[in-house]
Amino acid sequence: MSVLNGKKILLGVSGGIAAYKTASLVRLFIKAGAHVQVIMTPASKDFVTPLTLSTLSKNPVHSNFFSQDDEDAVWTNHVELGLWADLMIIAPATANTLSKMATGNCDNLLIACYLSAKCPVYFAPAMDLDMYKHPSTLSSFAALKQFGNIMIPAENGELASGLSGEGRMAEPENIVAFLEADLDSKLPLKGKKILITAGPTYEAIDPVRFIGNHSSGKMGFDIAHEAASLGAQVILVSGPTHYKVKNSLITVVDVISAQDMYDACHLYFNDVDVAIAAAAVADYRPKVVALQKIKKAADNFSIELEKTKDILASLGAIKKDQFLIGFALETENEIENAKLKIQKKNLDLIVLNSLQDEGAGFKKETNKVTFIDHNFEIEPMELKSKESVAVDILNKVILHFSKS
Ligand code: CTP
Repeated sequence: MSVLNGKKILLGVSGGIAAYKTASLVRLFIKAGAHVQVIMTPASKDFVTPLTLSTLSKNPVHSNFFSQDDEDAVWTNHVELGLWADLMIIAPATANTLSKMATGNCDNLLIACYLSAKCPVYFAPAMDLDMYKHPSTLSSFAALKQFGNIMIPAENGELASGLSGEGRMAEPENIVAFLEADLDSKLPLKGKKILITAGPTYEAIDPVRFIGNHSSGKMGFDIAHEAASLGAQVILVSGPTHYKVKNSLITVVDVISAQDMYDACHLYFNDVDVAIAAAAVADYRPKVVALQKIKKAADNFSIELEKTKDILASLGAIKKDQFLIGFALETENEIENAKLKIQKKNLDLIVLNSLQDEGAGFKKETNKVTFIDHNFEIEPMELKSKESVAVDILNKVILHFSKS
């Protein structure tokens, strides 16, 4: 999956012949799963039509500070556009637009959006070879880079003037590859390995029956996807669930029982930087598993159970510098019980779910959690989607690495 998937891209098009290539660029962004809005300078409309870019981006194209709809003038909120974007790219960036960006000469909507944008800004220059080398252009490049903007260098080749040299806007495929590589290298969990447990475990009674629980696995899978989208390599040890992974950075290890999960976790734990135990592991299993289906006979029937191994506690006992996160599902004395689990299992952080909170728990789309760290600092969170809880958990991981 492209790192551009789900990203909000603001494309600023200025007036050079390479503007016609932005039709392909928008298509590639959309294909990569990005959301695209386009701002055009007045001059760029001579090279590619707003209708083309609006159709391809599936959004209206902006080019004026206001649009005239019969008698009603509607202001285009450049601040909102600038804040909407996860990244802005100016392509093609002409010498004129680059110079305005460098000096803050705000005489069109594109420059106003650029000045309002808080996100990373990329620019892909396009001009004739002598313009590209001119000291004033070079000083625009230097100023823009010094402001923190990122240049996607022009390519060598035939130019609109008929001359050949450096100045062609990078090809759309190369722009996309440049953005992907740059964003990928800056992902906050790039190079980190994370072990995650998810789902229920099934403890066999006989060949056709088991003891299980209602865990769907959603929380663990959401954490895995969020971790991978932040660049981490994920080993997801999952009990039986219908969820599928959508990211090549995630390796799923399917397990059935608590013992399988224990074995898989211990296979990988030494090699990871973080472990997050989101699985609902059975605490007990039948002491003896019948080899044949148990037949119905007496009116009452009992099964002797024995304790399973506590996977999380066993990881806490051997951890070196791994950041270890556990969950606690409680119905009473929540905070005190969670604190005890932090100590007993040697955790860095616990994510407390209280079944007393409406919207939290098994088979729900939402969760309401409280974070408690190893210093017993308590941080209650709002009720939110499990995806958002996953974001909060991974933010704790990022914070941990930013301090260490
Ligand atoms: N856990 C585990 N292995 C087990 C039981 C639990 O790894 N055999 C992990 C869970 O994945 C969770 C944490 O331990 O991260 C706490 O699970 P929870 O069910 O809340 O607590 P238990 O330790 O099982 O204790 P109790 O059921 O008595 O509350």
